Amino acid sequence: MNFSKKSIQKDVIIALDFENSAITLDFLSQFVEHKPFVKIGMELFYAEGVEIVRLLKQQGHKIFLDLKLHDIPNTVKKAIASLSKFDVDMVNVHSSGGIDMMRAAREGLRQTDGGSPLLIAVTQLTSTSEDMMRSELLINASINQTIVHYALNAKTAELDGVVCSPLETAMIKEACGKDFLTVTPGIRLFENEKDDQVRITTSLQAGKNGSDLIVIGRPITQAKNPVEVYEKCRVDFLETVNK
Ligand code: C5P
Repeated sequence: MNFSKKSIQKDVIIALDFENSAITLDFLSQFVEHKPFVKIGMELFYAEGVEIVRLLKQQGHKIFLDLKLHDIPNTVKKAIASLSKFDVDMVNVHSSGGIDMMRAAREGLRQTDGGSPLLIAVTQLTSTSEDMMRSELLINASINQTIVHYALNAKTAELDGVVCSPLETAMIKEACGKDFLTVTPGIRLFENEKDDQVRITTSLQAGKNGSDLIVIGRPITQAKNPVEVYEKCRVDFLETVNK
């Protein structure tokens, strides 16, 4: 496919996991000196639909539309075609949908003014543990083997990268090459804070591990001073970039 693609630099993405537009816009109004890269996930998109995407684009935010598609190849192809017309910067699917589904997603991508969105695949959710994988999903390979295998599948399907834990970045880069994007949620201010996440680390360590983009939700959105926490995480994450 010869589409030009969106360009992306290392950055922090704020997960806008809010229940409606009003709360989201109120939250973003605190960012006077920044125009953060944002992630619109299922909670906000299902509540507000494409209008919130259009609005945040108009305001100049880069957007990762995190809807994690997982269906039969034809359905995913058509759905990605619809989503990529919104001119967002990045969209995603679940790699467990398989190589044909990921290839179909790639075929569904549409060119927009600014280039087609980057397409990445979730390996294993950062809330999944090896125990859960074995006992509930009946996957007997280790979690690291599974993640690298899923990332290689995404590469075979010509995706741009994966969503993974910041703990897995190095092994994925080794297997798939340094230009294969690693987008990593599971970021916490301190190693001992987890919420429902399992495979976590700090933004400083994620930078050292080589993540391309880190996704941070609650540590910023529920902070007393979100701008301060965002700035600190960004400085920590980017500290290693120019070294
Ligand atoms: O609040 P927290 O920092 O845990 O938010 C992480 C965000 O990243 C959530 O929006 C979640 O849906 C998303 N995500 C994730 N793990 C993945 C893929 C996406 O936590 N593997």
